[in-house]
Amino acid sequence: MQSIEVSRAWSVDESRKCLEELAVTVYKHAALNNSFYELWTSRRLELQQVAVFVRNYGEFNRAFPEVLATVLACTKNIAARTEYAKTLYSEMGNGQYDKVHSVLFDAWAQSLAEQFGDRQKLVWANLSAEFDALPQTYALIEGQKRIYAMDGATAAGAQLAQEWQAYTMETQLYEGARKYMGMWPTKDEFHEAAEFFYAHIGAAEKEHKLESLHAALEFDVDEASRARLVQGFNEQCRMFAEFWTAIGKAIH
Ligand SMILES: [Fe+2]
Repeated sequence: MQSIEVSRAWSVDESRKCLEELAVTVYKHAALNNSFYELWTSRRLELQQVAVFVRNYGEFNRAFPEVLATVLACTKNIAARTEYAKTLYSEMGNGQYDKVHSVLFDAWAQSLAEQFGDRQKLVWANLSAEFDALPQTYALIEGQKRIYAMDGATAAGAQLAQEWQAYTMETQLYEGARKYMGMWPTKDEFHEAAEFFYAHIGAAEKEHKLESLHAALEFDVDEASRARLVQGFNEQCRMFAEFWTAIGKAIH
């Protein structure tokens, strides 16, 4: 979808090619190649180590709709805003409370804790009272809100990075989650508990990638806006790398 709101220095096809080339650079970035993912996908962790992951990723998950609401509120371009609205609606379970992504994540965490014999451990109210999230987690959340409140091109670049790293993030989180499959009484019960991951790997993140690309196309109109887009993209990647690296260090 491209709107008629913008005039361009180059064709939409040229723009799409350039943005896709930028988007895939995240696959080689430390945002997706870091000590946390290495650890998470290599072996089962102790419950206390899992708790550190759940405390920090859960904090980010809960705040993500606030982050998306910021970019929605601050983006004047109607076509881009439409794409962000779809992503936010999906994050909020398409209007169904029990499908809200943070609710699905909590359900998985509690089910996993139950297999460890301590369901209460990863109930959010207990976990968030037990210890605080890391400074890098709040830096990611607040940094995203700050970037998403800037000009449309910078925000769209940041959202492009967010959504293109997200699919690989979810597949890596799922690969790690599978290490615990044998703890459930049956495999079916593991899969039922893992809906958070299936929601992302199945549809949500594939659609979010396209939505972020469509939004970025709205702003990639000249050299100046492209430079801001790249800057937003890189800033987002840096914050994710610091977030995961800090969690990896805290767990080791
Ligand atoms: Fe999500």
